[in-house]
Amino acid sequence: MKKKKIALFGFGCVGQGLYDIIQQQNDLPFEISKICVKDPNKTRNLPGSVFTYDKHEIFNDNDIEIIAEAISDDDEALEIVKLALKHGKKVVSASKKMLADNLADLIELESKSSGVLIYEASVCGSIPILRTLQDYYQRSSIDGISGILNGSSNYILSKIIDEDCSYTTALREARELGFAETDPTLDVGGFDASNKLCIIARHGFHMPLKTKEIFQFGIRHISEHEIAFAQKKGYKIKQVAILQKTKPNRYLAMVIPAFVDGHHPLYKIDNEYNGVILQSEFMGDQLLTGKGAGSHPTGWAMFSDLLAITNGYRYNYYNNDPAGSLPDTDFAFNIYLKCTSDMVMIALDFKLLEDLSPGTAYRFVYGSVKLKDLLKFRSSENFKTTFITLDLRYLLNKLSGINEKKGIVKAMV
Ligand code: HSE
Repeated sequence: MKKKKIALFGFGCVGQGLYDIIQQQNDLPFEISKICVKDPNKTRNLPGSVFTYDKHEIFNDNDIEIIAEAISDDDEALEIVKLALKHGKKVVSASKKMLADNLADLIELESKSSGVLIYEASVCGSIPILRTLQDYYQRSSIDGISGILNGSSNYILSKIIDEDCSYTTALREARELGFAETDPTLDVGGFDASNKLCIIARHGFHMPLKTKEIFQFGIRHISEHEIAFAQKKGYKIKQVAILQKTKPNRYLAMVIPAFVDGHHPLYKIDNEYNGVILQSEFMGDQLLTGKGAGSHPTGWAMFSDLLAITNGYRYNYYNNDPAGSLPDTDFAFNIYLKCTSDMVMIALDFKLLEDLSPGTAYRFVYGSVKLKDLLKFRSSENFKTTFITLDLRYLLNKLSGINEKKGIVKAMV
């Protein structure tokens, strides 16, 4: 049988991982016929004839049916995906920020074209989360999705807490290992996890979540105080993404560092691994875990999408949220706050429950805060000198109660 022709856009970490996986397979229904890259002067370990620098060469080639897009320039990625759909091609994308920012438009474009768009590789590396939500959970009502969605942050936090590594060294390693984004601020600022939460929300909650509706707080300014506190208490610090129904038409959406104790399933998800907990009506809780970053794990997600799309696979979309749910801004929960001034507590309308650093120049305090005050605080000057760590156990207790025996969160609502 004649093999279908694929064009690969991008030959970075993920593109090379995909290429390598394809080279190690036999009897595939497709083959890579061209690789489109930006820089003609870069040395690459493949013959020059396989590369092109002109995307139109690919879109004008009717023999190329499938596009695999794995580039780091989001504007360019958007143009490529749009062109692919307009030309009726099947496209597999790994560009999470581009997808999170443009998903509604791309779904609309796909519905009007003869093309198809799928994007498992954009979220959680090797974990088949979108496929699971699409195919297994399709009729299940999901009350909550939470987890670790960024491999680099998890790698950095694991090295800091478990191996006493410095933040700078751990970040350098995350970059060297190919986990971090070209601009690692996306990872450590919580933006990458927010983008992934938006994509997962479209398939899990069937609603168009936007990044501006998510309270995101990164790990960039983590200090010795939170680290010492975690080590003293036997906690780990994890950057946790949470999307939770709190009441009808209201939800809580956050990406935030959290103290996680040994009973919680995310406690054992270390290094570049990701873990996603799905809370559903009939199945209770499920944890899906696997490598969330890296050349081969993410390349495999693209490879699996290529096989699926070749077999006619596509996503089904529907809107489960016609009323248009909103963030539950009055929702209160407990956090640990490290700041240099009482002004921060006043700005946050923080209800102090415990002072953990009496008599010191900085404040390390425990107390309650409302989502609306955190959302407002994002534009404050003090935002950069403050560190916020969620009391995850308190939040989960408030939301649903915890089954201590299994250490698993019970389904809520
Ligand atoms: N920079 C991303 C991460 C890569 O660390 O999770 C995978 O999406």
